[in-house]
Amino acid sequence: METSARKILVTGSTGQIGTELTQELRRRYGAKNVVAGGHRREPDPSIRNGPFEVFDVTDSTELRAVITKHGIDTVYHLAAVLSAVGEKDPVLAWKINLDGFRNLLEVARSERVSRIFWPSSIAVFGPDVSRVNTPQEAKLTPTTIYGVAKVAGELLANYYYLKYGIDIRSVRYPGLISSVTPPGGGTTDYAVEIFYEALKSRSYKCFLREDTILPMMYMPDALRAAIQLMEAPAANVMCRTSYNLAAVSFSAGDLAREISKRVKGFRVEYKPDYRQAIADSWPMSVDDSRARHDWGWRHEYDIQSIARDMLEKLTLKLNVQIDKD
Ligand code: SER
Repeated sequence: METSARKILVTGSTGQIGTELTQELRRRYGAKNVVAGGHRREPDPSIRNGPFEVFDVTDSTELRAVITKHGIDTVYHLAAVLSAVGEKDPVLAWKINLDGFRNLLEVARSERVSRIFWPSSIAVFGPDVSRVNTPQEAKLTPTTIYGVAKVAGELLANYYYLKYGIDIRSVRYPGLISSVTPPGGGTTDYAVEIFYEALKSRSYKCFLREDTILPMMYMPDALRAAIQLMEAPAANVMCRTSYNLAAVSFSAGDLAREISKRVKGFRVEYKPDYRQAIADSWPMSVDDSRARHDWGWRHEYDIQSIARDMLEKLTLKLNVQIDKD
């Protein structure tokens, strides 16, 4: 794709991924070429350095108006509700996550949108597959509405690619850890909250069991994956549903211990709630060899470098000190 031809829209630009992805895309392609779209959340002031539009992805008239107004040809479609919120309100989860995506595909079909990035998730898998190194082709029988909508979205992406030639690209993200915008309503949110609480109060009540292992990734890796996949030659993108994508896997206890090495006196209490069942239905690790083979995916951050960087960034952000042992 020609850089000069790109006019990009990021939906969900006020969310955990969107805030940072918008800035990264603006650095690469120019602030004026990246329109940030938001709906409910107040945007981070950093997003005001380029065009910003307020619209609802479930309203196709509003979505079409923004796409035609800015001559959009590329969309990073991030507007979604996460798994824990989804279980509280399955109708809303379906409406935003699936109807919103289908609206975009329909608008893409009739306007100039030719390339779309849409994140899927490890939540596409259910408890009845092998939870260690879960293969790309494992059966998709999720038990959350979030996962059900992701599976339907993957199939829809493949359908619009085959039938209408829309170049839709997708990865199944693991839990994402970041220091800029907190996630809202996911099962892997503990791995972000734990850092804030370690620095603010030296204690954290974790809503998952200590031995709960999930696949996780640091935001710089997640952003790089999205952009690298979007820039890969179309011939290399062999998978048109969604690629398994992995970086590291660790338990809640592993992360707590890693933080304790750097934050003196940090204590974690484990009080699992309804989110434990969601975590128990997901893989502990996934096999992402196809992404590594097809478009050269490599992760950079492991648990040590994630913890080091998160604590460095958050001590500045929260203006606190850490007394090391
Ligand atoms: N991180 C997401 C969640 O916890 C899963 O994709 O909902």
